[in-house]
Amino acid sequence: MTLLHNKVAIVTGGASGIGRATALLFAQEGARVAVADMNEAAGLAVVAQIEQTGGQAFFQRTDVRQDLACSELVDAAVDRYGRLDIAFNNAGVSGTVGLTQNIALAEWRKVLDINLTGVFNCMVHQLRAMKARGGSIINTASIMGLQGTPGGAAYSASKHGVIGLTRSAALEYGKYGIRINALCPGFVATPMVVGPDSHFDDQATQALVKTTALRRFGEPEEQAQMVLWLASDKSSYATGGHFVVDAGVTA
Ligand SMILES: NC(=O)c1ccc[n+]([C@@H]2O[C@H](COP(=O)([O-])OP(=O)(O)OC[C@H]3O[C@@H](n4cnc5c(N)ncnc54)[C@H](O)[C@@H]3O)[C@@H](O)[C@H]2O)c1
Repeated sequence: MTLLHNKVAIVTGGASGIGRATALLFAQEGARVAVADMNEAAGLAVVAQIEQTGGQAFFQRTDVRQDLACSELVDAAVDRYGRLDIAFNNAGVSGTVGLTQNIALAEWRKVLDINLTGVFNCMVHQLRAMKARGGSIINTASIMGLQGTPGGAAYSASKHGVIGLTRSAALEYGKYGIRINALCPGFVATPMVVGPDSHFDDQATQALVKTTALRRFGEPEEQAQMVLWLASDKSSYATGGHFVVDAGVTA
């Protein structure tokens, strides 16, 4: 029996990186998956890949900054598959790098809107949908949500916020059988970190690699394995936690 047999899952940021790897793994483990992202072409490609291997999924174009879009996403999953069991709130951006005094207010708001308010927007509707039957919500924070990040104050603040939101909601909703946890990835080889839009040049990348005990960046699939565990009944006693998968960077 697969780990997520008959479960219904939403994955935001499902078109790329950690979200993509998780959507594929969820489907492989028997879940029917709503792949949500702003990147329609890449999201549809993930759905096609799931369908090619006999899984079930659909794409929903979603900007997590928009409350209505998040409401429609949850409704679409429930309308199509009958219920919602799992939500991986993972869409995020890195934001610009620079001293706090130089962060433009618009940039600050953008990072907080996507990384923190986006998780909140999704959770509001997911919690309503899950309240009667329970479920598992996993929110993507970061190791930058556990420690300060010189040059990345907006990102770090947003990820600290995700952990606070996760903990508070976990305490509220445990009695309804809803478990809520945060994932704290270290450095993962996704477009955010290694693509052309990455803030890190070769030298910075090498310096980051040296902070890992395993002397390498992680793969998105290695984060997806933790998300799978948190989504599945195997993690039945885990709620309100933050789960670090960082090759020892914060050790
Ligand atoms: N890659 C890392 O090293 C790392 C480390 C710690 C945490 N994270 C977090 O992991 C999550 C996934 O990042 P990734 O590394 O896979 O990056 P990625 O860039 O590969 O994927 C992010 C996805 O989010 C989508 N997205 C961005 N804004 C959105 C919005 N407003 N609404 C809906 N979708 C939106 C993008 O289109 C993209 O598909 C993010 O929350 C990121 O902060 C990443």
